[in-house]
Amino acid sequence: MKTAICPGSFDPVTLGHMDIIRRASKIFDHVIVAVMVNPAKKTAFTLEERIELLKKATAGMEGVEVVGFEGFLADYARMRGACAIVKGLRAVSDFEYEFQMALINQKLNGELDTMFLTTQAQNMYLSSSMVKDIASFGGDISSFVPAAILEDISNRLCKGGVPK
Ligand code: PNS
Repeated sequence: MKTAICPGSFDPVTLGHMDIIRRASKIFDHVIVAVMVNPAKKTAFTLEERIELLKKATAGMEGVEVVGFEGFLADYARMRGACAIVKGLRAVSDFEYEFQMALINQKLNGELDTMFLTTQAQNMYLSSSMVKDIASFGGDISSFVPAAILEDISNRLCKGGVPK
């Protein structure tokens, strides 16, 4: 059985992330969506909230498991017997950071490959930061996040149109 990991901060998960998870689940038997702690980012949602949102968003997707993890991704992949990390690439600006992470992860775990899937054109400009900005001003984020968690995200980031 081939297992892959889709890692990220997912603060919050967007339709861009969902597209990558869905496509990875067609290539691999088992996809572990690892909601990680990225020390470089101050998140709007707690780790527990981000995990809950992803569980709701991926409910019913065959072969997809959602976990939370704090530590080295390469170690977690080894622990779970995963052979690949799958990440989405939106633009050239993503490349340098992702390329560096791929090299570090391979250095830490020689059995681990990183696969990049190109984003769909409609998700090229989509990011969690953009979703948070729009939602915090009471804007419509329905075309950017999964319908199952639209209300959770909107309510959490903008109570009654007043940014929190
Ligand atoms: O969605 P993000 O924030 O771009 O995801 C980045 C993430 C969480 C995948 C990355 O920061 C990560 O893998 N963090 C875990 C720690 C780790 O393994 N770092 C690489 C070696 S320094």
